[in-house]
Amino acid sequence: MAIAIYPGSFDPITNGHIDIVRRARKLFPKLYIAVVANPHKSPTFTVEERVEITKTALIEAGINGLEVISYDGLLIDCAREHGADAIVRGLRANSDFEYEFQMALTNRDLAPEFESVFFMTAKKYSFLSSSTVKEICMYGGDVSTFVPRSVEAALKKKLQTKK
Ligand code: PNS
Repeated sequence: MAIAIYPGSFDPITNGHIDIVRRARKLFPKLYIAVVANPHKSPTFTVEERVEITKTALIEAGINGLEVISYDGLLIDCAREHGADAIVRGLRANSDFEYEFQMALTNRDLAPEFESVFFMTAKKYSFLSSSTVKEICMYGGDVSTFVPRSVEAALKKKLQTKK
């Protein structure tokens, strides 16, 4: 059985990410969700918070049995450590392509044993991103259709504390 790893910042996880998890686990029942400790963008939530928020959100979405892990350093090292065969990523609009293509080819140069596998998101999540959700929430907008309730609560708490 192939093992896959779905890496990301998950700052925080959105319904778009959850949609990709649902699609990916049909092909990869053994799927790790890997939260990067130090993303290139400075995160709103700490890595510990992002792991907890992700775990709770998956349970709320009725997705059980997946392991949420964190990693610091190169993704391919984390993938090796967990015996993964594939790296899962989601694709939204066309604009994701160049970034994903560059990352996949870089990872392939570094570690040719991993295949990068892409899942297309549902149409309704094509333009959904964690940063958009944070911006909407920061200005008091309703994010309930974009993230699970537990994530909405965590966002409100964090963004209110930051004010
Ligand atoms: O959700 P994101 O921010 O688009 O995810 C990007 C992520 C975290 C998957 C990527 O930046 C990553 O794996 N970073 C760890 C460092 C690494 O392995 N870099 C080389 C791959 S280009």
